[in-house]
Amino acid sequence: MKFSEYNPSKIEEINRLFIKTFSDSEGKSEGLVIGELTNNFMTNTDADDFYCFVVRENNEIIGAVFFSKLTFESGVKAYILSPMATLTKHQGKGIGQKLINFSLDVLRKNGVELAVTYGDSNFYSKVGFKQITEAIVPAPLELSYPEGWLGQSLIGDRIDPIVGKSYCVEALNKQDLW
Ligand SMILES: CC(C)(COP(=O)(O)OP(=O)(O)OC[C@H]1O[C@@H](n2cnc3c(N)ncnc32)[C@H](O)[C@@H]1OP(=O)(O)O)[C@@H](O)C(=O)NCCC(=O)NCCS
Repeated sequence: MKFSEYNPSKIEEINRLFIKTFSDSEGKSEGLVIGELTNNFMTNTDADDFYCFVVRENNEIIGAVFFSKLTFESGVKAYILSPMATLTKHQGKGIGQKLINFSLDVLRKNGVELAVTYGDSNFYSKVGFKQITEAIVPAPLELSYPEGWLGQSLIGDRIDPIVGKSYCVEALNKQDLW
């Protein structure tokens, strides 16, 4: 298995991976919503404002994860992990956790101080995320599922509460996604 940042020549393959994986797990219409989101990151988002990391086996991309910039009035350097997918037939073998750990190492080396995500704490707690509240980290849009608001400091043991508003990139700035 090889872990790396994505190559823009692979945009179509990455979109297909997300559409297929989310169609398998949550139905076709959710697959298309997530495919539109990943395409929006890779084609309409400033390259400095997002990361996409992939894991390849035999030259096929079998997993991928996106991180996009969260801007805080306080100036904390932060990214949000969303979405991620491991091809259905490769799930449950530790690939997703390895991919996240690889990605967080790169972010840390690039000076990112805080990683947050919005999802299943049973999975994300395996890679260091803990439940947080909006009193600790304000969310950019209203959270329909506040229990899924998760974060981890990349520079210390705990997250110092952040005061003021936060803003996400345009691709994520849709209430339906939250
Ligand atoms: C969530 C997801 C990215 C996890 O990737 P993965 O490569 O299967 O993750 P790992 O194998 O590293 O870890 C899976 C862990 O989560 C659980 N898990 C999640 N999906 C699982 C599956 N299909 N089969 C088995 N375990 C699964 C297990 O408890 C496992 O824990 P363990 O290692 O202690 O046994 C993947 O299941 C996926 O793509 N799901 C569909 C899309 C999705 O929901 N994405 C996340 C929201 S953005």
